[in-house]
Amino acid sequence: MSGKRGLRVKGPFSPQGDIKVPGDKSISHRAALLLALSNGTAKVHGFLKSDDCMATVKALRSMGVRIDFENESTLVVTGAGLTGLSEPPDVIDCGNSGTLMRLILGILAGQSFTTFLTGDASLRSRPMDRVIDPLRAMGATILARGRDKHPPIAIRGGSLSQIVYSPPVASAQVKSSILLAGLFADGETEVRELRMTRDHTERMLEYLGAQVFRSAGSVKVRGNCELVAKDIVVPGDISSAAFAICAAAASPGSHLTVRGVGVNPTRTGLLRVLERMGADIEVLDERIVSNEPVADLVVHGKQLQAVVIQPDEIPDIIDEIPILSLVATQCTGTTSILGAGELRVKESDRLRSIEDVLTRLGASVSVIGNDIKVIGPTRLKPCTVESFGDHRIAMMAAMAAAFVDGVIDVRDTGCIDTSFPGFERVLTELSTIDSVESYSFMG
Ligand code: S3P
Repeated sequence: MSGKRGLRVKGPFSPQGDIKVPGDKSISHRAALLLALSNGTAKVHGFLKSDDCMATVKALRSMGVRIDFENESTLVVTGAGLTGLSEPPDVIDCGNSGTLMRLILGILAGQSFTTFLTGDASLRSRPMDRVIDPLRAMGATILARGRDKHPPIAIRGGSLSQIVYSPPVASAQVKSSILLAGLFADGETEVRELRMTRDHTERMLEYLGAQVFRSAGSVKVRGNCELVAKDIVVPGDISSAAFAICAAAASPGSHLTVRGVGVNPTRTGLLRVLERMGADIEVLDERIVSNEPVADLVVHGKQLQAVVIQPDEIPDIIDEIPILSLVATQCTGTTSILGAGELRVKESDRLRSIEDVLTRLGASVSVIGNDIKVIGPTRLKPCTVESFGDHRIAMMAAMAAAFVDGVIDVRDTGCIDTSFPGFERVLTELSTIDSVESYSFMG
């Protein structure tokens, strides 16, 4: 038995305030990984110091990369160049992070040494064959548990051949892993996507001087090109901001400003869905920072209407479906989220977790196959829910208090630190003083 954390949040509240959220998780991982492969020293401003991104820092340090923290959110990375990594003396622990494991496998495929990787129980159950298969086809030797599907994984890389690959699943992690391996291959490595996924890797590669060629449905990278170290400013994470944005958008009377948040179009599906629901969201002062669009968002709460979300919209809202499902409980009518099967292989089986949490809250929700159906609006009820060790489920459940007359008790909220350290403080700012209480329990 070990100590776990829980969060009690008293509702209802109508989110108010002017907030900033911590740095983008996807971009923070990539900043550390790509600067580690670059020549020179550069800073990452706004780095997300979360458990997941710190696992990336630790992994890179174990391969000889010098990384120092100048302050809480500024990282100084001295790149080892494409050929300067050394064999890690121990197993790399990727913790809860699928992004770290899949992206670093791409880098390790280009290294002539052997590396062992593992992760926590959740990560050890997640599918890795989606990156193992193409990396093998490029020339890496890889062994994994469970018929080569699950971590722990052993990888020995070496000289790689370029590949033209069409991933069978829409996944930025798969695309990024192959592009990173492509840095070590001769010629051009190409990934063809049926449905475009987040493009932070290709943007950052371009920013650091790699030769990247993009056209509709395709991205190519030329191997053996130098990456030149350059300071990177990480925008606020729209997937973290999503919790506050959604609760505010669905609460008539709310006024919320979120400053300096990433608005890359491959990540703003949430705003497009909320707009269809009738939400009032202004995107202000849009600017480009380190090759990524950034803006301030202003939200005014309203009564929202149900919508149908089609399968081809899923990649742009992949991490926001838990909080959008909560919004759906407040919409008038039946919201359908169709073809969300990828949620079954996230940090938890999110289709099951969403159904469990929303049902306990008294919502009318059903999951049929890989589709979610929510009928609203429903005034939610006080209850105790489990996070299933999944940060986005824990935060969605805590935010549900906005729509509850009473207390929501969320069990096992330590996982929130994987992506949003300081969530509790932001939640306190948004609601009212004394409405958020954290506690410990044995579990
Ligand atoms: C991520 C891609 C997405 C997303 C994850 C972060 C990334 O995963 O769910 O939180 O940083 O590339 P998939 O690529 O597996 O869909």
